[in-house]
Amino acid sequence: MARYEPRDKFYRKAREQGLPSRAAFKLEELIARFKLAHPGARVADLGCAPGGWLAILARTVGPNGRVVGIDLAQCVAPAPNVVMIAGDLHDPAVRTEVAARLGGTADLITSDLSPKLTGIAARDQAQSAELLTIALEFADGVLKPGGTLVAKLFMGAEFGEIKAAFAQAFAKVEVARTKASRPGSSELYLVARGFHAGRD
Ligand SMILES: C[S@@+](CC[C@H](N)C(=O)[O-])C[C@H]1O[C@@H](n2cnc3c(N)ncnc32)[C@H](O)[C@@H]1O
Repeated sequence: MARYEPRDKFYRKAREQGLPSRAAFKLEELIARFKLAHPGARVADLGCAPGGWLAILARTVGPNGRVVGIDLAQCVAPAPNVVMIAGDLHDPAVRTEVAARLGGTADLITSDLSPKLTGIAARDQAQSAELLTIALEFADGVLKPGGTLVAKLFMGAEFGEIKAAFAQAFAKVEVARTKASRPGSSELYLVARGFHAGRD
């Protein structure tokens, strides 16, 4: 069985590149594999601290794009095309502010939202599932028709239900793992494309 190594090659690579988290490489891999964002795109990044994904998104969308990150914890916006908002996504006023700062509908929403993990699998998975529901609700009204939502989740009892909810709102939903996820992790990513808001 793979040994848990907190300072593995992705940790060291993040340090070398001045990235705030190894999580950056997970999104970099997903963007390359699924061609997720393009120069000039508008992106909302849910659960953005400490800013690894923000750094990758800032580079990907370039100076004519816009990235708005939101997290309970404050973090530094890594480039002029990034705005960081500190707040709780449960709060409708915070969601409205994220939408306003985007300056138009989003081409892409990324969600690395994660609860404070307790180590109690059923509890962690249920809280993670609840955050995914928030990401899906946020997409309604913020994501442009045809847009993409990429969201992390942990494999658990809620997986089928969550995937079905995503499938109602998007034309195509794929499940991906990344090489940068820790060995043995139950972390997965839903890559949902072709947003149609789940309305009949
Ligand atoms: C795994 S971390 C994100 C790492 C980030 N993607 C990166 O690349 O550095 C998950 C984040 O979700 C945030 N989070 C959890 N619940 C939240 C909520 N209700 N509203 C906003 N952020 C939340 C946590 O504060 C935490 O920083």
